[in-house]
Formats: sequence, structure tokens, C-alpha cells
Amino acid sequence: MLTDELRQELQARIAAAITPREAAVDVLKVLQSHYGWLTDEAVEEAAALLGLSPLQVDELATFYEMLYRRPVGKRVIHVCDSISCWAMGGEPLMAHLAKSLGIQPGETSADGLFTLLPCCCLGNCGEAPTMMVGDTLYGRLQPETALEILQKERTTITKEERP
Ligand code: FES
Repeated sequence: MLTDELRQELQARIAAAITPREAAVDVLKVLQSHYGWLTDEAVEEAAALLGLSPLQVDELATFYEMLYRRPVGKRVIHVCDSISCWAMGGEPLMAHLAKSLGIQPGETSADGLFTLLPCCCLGNCGEAPTMMVGDTLYGRLQPETALEILQKERTTITKEERP
């Protein structure tokens, strides 16, 4: 459920946009941050705020790979599988992360902390292979350095955030 404060913040964002639709992705990102993922309730709230149908919002939410319509871990790891990263070791990087987390790409670790997802180019091709953890981009990765990054990320997840 939205707080009055959050609802007002979203209404202000929409009012500042040229059209409500222009603010849609922004609104969805805020709601995702609030709920942890885009629940049906979040989609319906976004639709009501934006003056769109839930189906129109759902179409947007399922188009963008950084919007999640299923539950995810506290940190989502996006591993780039586009050409530069693939050529520079993206595949073994993904395999190493999957093995270390005990999951397959697309799944969430048993402790609920990490979801591992392949993704298209992250715009960091010059530093391939690349992954993004939460909102932070990491390049020139070796499998071992990627695991060190996850270890550090683990320590940043607060007790309140933990499932
Ligand atoms: S190909 Fe991986 S960041 Fe562009």
C-alpha cells in the first residue's frame, strides 16, 4: 500500500511530465523500489495514477529488463551477454556466479539476497565483461573479482532489508 507521502511524490512527478505516459517508467521504478518488485497491486496503483489501464502498464513493465514483475532478491545481478562481454568472458563469468550462488540464471539464491539475470548491453563494452549489481556497474571482471564484489554487497544489505 502506498503512503500518502509517496502518492504525493508520484503525483508531483507525473504533473511535471509533458504527458503522464512520459512519467510511467519513472513511476514504476519508484514503486518497484517501494515494494521490492512490481506486484499486481503496484501495477494497479501505477495505472490509477497515470490514467492508463493495468494492461498498458503491464506491457511497459514486461518490456524493460530492469523492471521486475516477479519477486527478486535484495540485489539483482545483471550479467551482460551481448557481443563484447561474450567475447571477453561473460559466459564463464555467469557460470561462475551461478555455481557460487547455487542457482541457475533467472533464479534467486536460497537466502533471498541475489537474483542472477542475463541482460543486453549495459553500455560498458569497453570494459567488458560487465555486470550490474543493484544500480552499480562493474567492468573488466574476472570470476574471482565478481565474487569479491558480491561479498561486499552482502555486507551492505542491512538487517532490516534481509528476508
Ligand atoms: S556488450 Fe556488454 S556492456 Fe556492451
